[in-house]
Amino acid sequence: MRILVTGHLGYIGVELTPVLRRLGHDVVGLDTDYFASGDFLAPPDDVPNLAMDMRDVTPEHLAGFDAVVHLAALSNDPLSDLNASLTYDINHAASVRLAEAAKAAGVSRFVFSSSCSLYGKAGDDELDEGAAFNPVTPYGESKVRVEQALSELADDDFSPVYLRNATAYGLSRRLRADVVVNNLVAHAVTTGKVMLQSDGTPWRPLVHVLDIAAAFAAALSAPRDAIHDRAFNVGRVGENYQIRDVAHLIAELAPECVVTYAEGAMPDIRDYRVDFTRIERELPGYEPQWTVRSGIEQLLAAYRDGGMTADGFTGPNYFRLRTITGLLDRGDLDPQLRWSRDRADTSSLELQPS
Ligand SMILES: NC(=O)c1ccc[n+]([C@@H]2O[C@H](COP(=O)([O-])OP(=O)(O)OC[C@H]3O[C@@H](n4cnc5c(N)ncnc54)[C@H](O)[C@@H]3O)[C@@H](O)[C@H]2O)c1
Repeated sequence: MRILVTGHLGYIGVELTPVLRRLGHDVVGLDTDYFASGDFLAPPDDVPNLAMDMRDVTPEHLAGFDAVVHLAALSNDPLSDLNASLTYDINHAASVRLAEAAKAAGVSRFVFSSSCSLYGKAGDDELDEGAAFNPVTPYGESKVRVEQALSELADDDFSPVYLRNATAYGLSRRLRADVVVNNLVAHAVTTGKVMLQSDGTPWRPLVHVLDIAAAFAAALSAPRDAIHDRAFNVGRVGENYQIRDVAHLIAELAPECVVTYAEGAMPDIRDYRVDFTRIERELPGYEPQWTVRSGIEQLLAAYRDGGMTADGFTGPNYFRLRTITGLLDRGDLDPQLRWSRDRADTSSLELQPS
């Protein structure tokens, strides 16, 4: 298949594109590349890139593709709190325009990177795909709105599918240290302390970045009936954790580290458990390989081998909000998060053939 992957230069995207290429797909990316300063251990693969802002996509850009995988977004709650209306512009309005453009261009499959955070705060039950939406941030709300809009576009020729990822962890060449497992392990390796920012009681569903990639690959090749206008929670049965249990697992695997609580640590408002039965049973070809334990082992080895330092960890490169505010402060990005003129002139807006 010829596949356009938006956000292919982000944390998930750089590890997804090689998986798709190994399966024989012809992959083109679309990314404005906000996080070029965030390489860890190695640069991303060289993938042909429509180096542009997704807000500017037209059907012409999408002609000839069989599928769109849509990852590009302001990708977490702190970033979306920076400016809620920008979050809705990019994550919601531009995503809907992208899907409309894809449909107009004759693209038949649209795989949307949604999030379990659309469930928001919930009770003790494990939430399946039929659970009510209860988003607690603009980020979570934007995912709800896109799923609803995509569902309206679904028809005989256009099949959207909504992959509701759990919180990701694991090594990526565009590392994020602002996701909880990666953060706790990096803090442990660089300070000897596993530092909890909340009281550690909230539940979170967790999934390895390579299992997310496997889910996207499976959604692309599954028969249409298995995915058409359907949501799947992306993770693994049993992989819901209280954050304090993750912390103690890290201390078990890195015995030189001790678990500590940040001053004034409070409960986190995000607190929910998710049921992953549907994806394991009903998405053909999806076989998750990772657990939080094996992911922590991978991160410990990578951070030690890669020389993760306290300065590197606390600096601007691996925290999405810090990178963006740094680019804004330096004037590299304008308030609409578009590259300033100087930068735009040096970045290629050419459509490169694959
Ligand atoms: N990482 C997680 O834990 C997680 C969990 C659930 C859902 N998701 C979703 O998966 C997707 C990818 O997440 P990630 O962790 O890789 O995020 P990321 O921030 O690492 O990557 C996002 C990419 O999108 C690009 N981008 C953002 N706005 C753009 C625009 N206007 N035009 C073009 N490119 C733009 C960025 O340059 C970046 O490379 C997001 O939609 C996110 O909401 C992620």
